[in-house]
Amino acid sequence: MPERFPKAQLDLEDLTLHEGAPVLLRRALAPLEPGEMLEVCGDSAELAEELAAWCRKEGARYLGGGNGPNVHRIERATGPAPLVTSGRDIAEVADPRWGLAPRGARIEAGGPEFAFTLRQKREIWAQELTSIYKQAVANQWSAARDIPWDQLPKLPEEVEAAVSQVMTFLTENEFAALYVPARFIPRIHPHYREVVEVLAVQIVDEARHAEVFTRRAEAGRNGLGTTAVSGQLSLQTLLEEPDFTTAAFLLCVMGEGTFLTLLRFLEEHAPEPVTATLARLALRDEARHVAFGMEHLRYVLQREPERRTLLAAAVERRSRMLAAVSGLSPYVYDALTVLAGGGISPAQVREGARQVALLHREMDRARRERLQSLGFETEEASALSAYHTKNFM
Ligand SMILES: [Fe+2]
Ligand SMILES: [Fe+2]
Repeated sequence: MPERFPKAQLDLEDLTLHEGAPVLLRRALAPLEPGEMLEVCGDSAELAEELAAWCRKEGARYLGGGNGPNVHRIERATGPAPLVTSGRDIAEVADPRWGLAPRGARIEAGGPEFAFTLRQKREIWAQELTSIYKQAVANQWSAARDIPWDQLPKLPEEVEAAVSQVMTFLTENEFAALYVPARFIPRIHPHYREVVEVLAVQIVDEARHAEVFTRRAEAGRNGLGTTAVSGQLSLQTLLEEPDFTTAAFLLCVMGEGTFLTLLRFLEEHAPEPVTATLARLALRDEARHVAFGMEHLRYVLQREPERRTLLAAAVERRSRMLAAVSGLSPYVYDALTVLAGGGISPAQVREGARQVALLHREMDRARRERLQSLGFETEEASALSAYHTKNFM
């Protein structure tokens, strides 16, 4: 039998296997082909025994002593584990076998398959995701630090009650805006991490909005206001929408888009600096949520213009489901009127009602504008805006 020569040599000196020698052994074995030999020398008395045991575990073969004392030979028995890679580029379709691996990593084959059902780029992607995410992270604010809670004056009873009622209404809407993206995140393949990141910050934003609106309501004399069945029914239809793009359209474009106008109205008519600050900060966050929705819809509609028909059908379907809901809940309508009028004298109510009518008109105008910028025809945009739930979200 011809003499075999080691392909590589490794001197462990007095390093034992318990002290980290496997790190050096694996590095020395990695470039070897199956059947090639590594010569290991080391001073440790138990090295032969330890090496033999380690080899059995690591898919290598211990061949015994080599030439000279403290010299051992081991042979690489198996090839490297087969690897796949997802590539650094964003794929049109993500492979379930890539699992939770970051995009561009090498992935051992044979891993578990995950049930990510949203694994096509066209189902979830949007332009500008990186800049939306960066802005979101840079503009995070804190309920404790950024709201002038110490500047809350004692307001007239009816104005305070109106603020609390509006805050109650806002909070239930915030919960819906939190739950909708939260439902979809576990379905999105991590290959499209930019989408997951944007939605994750959106959820954090909504949690903060719910926190501050509740806190503002509770700061008043009477605490939280009343929640209407009509509002809950409207939000339920949003929560149950199974398709991601339709949900993003209903929530981010139609609902949160409408809330931009509402929050601007609240900032303008706020009776004290706390409510004005809350409305302003929430508005800044919501503008990003709307931007994501618009960008996602643009991306989808550029590729599948025929989806406009399905989206329109979804708005109409929702409107039919809510047919029994006549309009904005009286709790909210009255509160907005008192807030905008500044009180409950007939003159104040007249002025408040006028302001709320203007609010509705501005909401409708902004919705139609957004729909048209997504390629809906003027008439269709008007019809869809009119179908949109009277409860704003
Ligand atoms: Fe929000
Ligand atoms: Fe939002």
